[in-house]
Amino acid sequence: MASAPGKVILFGEHAVVYGEPAIAAAIRRRVYVSVEEIATDRIEIESRNLKIRESMRLEKCTRGELEGVSAELKPLWHLCHKMLELHGHPLKHGLRVEIRSEIPESAGLGSSAALATALALALKEIFSVDMSPNDIWNIAFESEKIVHGRPSGIDNTLSLHGGVILYRKGSMKRIRLGQTIPLVVGDTGVSRSTGKMVARVRMLREKYPDVIEEVIRAIGRLSLLSVQALVDGDLEKLGDLMNINQGLLEALGVSSPEISMLVNAARKAGALGAKLTGAGGGGCIIALPAKNAINNVVESIKRVGRDAFLAEIEFEGARIESGGAHG
Ligand code: MEV
Repeated sequence: MASAPGKVILFGEHAVVYGEPAIAAAIRRRVYVSVEEIATDRIEIESRNLKIRESMRLEKCTRGELEGVSAELKPLWHLCHKMLELHGHPLKHGLRVEIRSEIPESAGLGSSAALATALALALKEIFSVDMSPNDIWNIAFESEKIVHGRPSGIDNTLSLHGGVILYRKGSMKRIRLGQTIPLVVGDTGVSRSTGKMVARVRMLREKYPDVIEEVIRAIGRLSLLSVQALVDGDLEKLGDLMNINQGLLEALGVSSPEISMLVNAARKAGALGAKLTGAGGGGCIIALPAKNAINNVVESIKRVGRDAFLAEIEFEGARIESGGAHG
């Protein structure tokens, strides 16, 4: 069994697609993938959360004949196919893949990247093949492209490495926090597609390039400014920067009435800053509560009828789990 964490983007979503820096943190909610050999010539994939179970002959998967699979499991079938194509089939029998997730889907918390990363690691382990972290990254990124179209790679980087990072397409740098930052996640409960939100920004950028490119650059600058605030543990400054970032995301057209409602509820209850996290259009917000305001912020989001929780930062990335304890 392998697992990988989800993530929140603190600063820089969407701008990161255009090469700007972004800051993101892995959170202590994981996807668990177990793989076992079964005495058939098939691969079975079951997602307990999505309540979907599909099966396919090994040969068909090896050839990449993936027509007929569900949209939800397609990225995973593709990943299995790539692994079989790259490494042959080192097992005598078929495989059973079982998925259990603590991360809500389509909510901006990186569930698809965590899933792809954990599956790649679990398959590497059962195939007993040599794969560097970079190889795992590449194969998970291929799978992310099927889900999101043209992702920046930030989600699968966090799932693989954990911690808090400054990410720019093609490179990452770890950030050592001056103090733990309490982050409250509020879920609008509205699911949306990252690919569609990224395409929306692309269209706006094509229509008004001068303005939108400035907005994107300003978001990148916020990410850079936040690094020192994170190192110093300067929560007030981080809150300000989050609020400015939310304003710029609104300018990009990726906020929504539900997001505004939760952001306002969090700010009224004592959040120093609040913004959407991930692709927007629904999904989740993050709020940075002032000291002693954590419960207030959580409760105030719950009072408007939405789920909220305190997200702890996860410093460990993808890992092999020792046994079936999570079954
Ligand atoms: C998705 O978590 C973040 C976006 O910036 C898309 C990406 O980076 O691939 C919206």
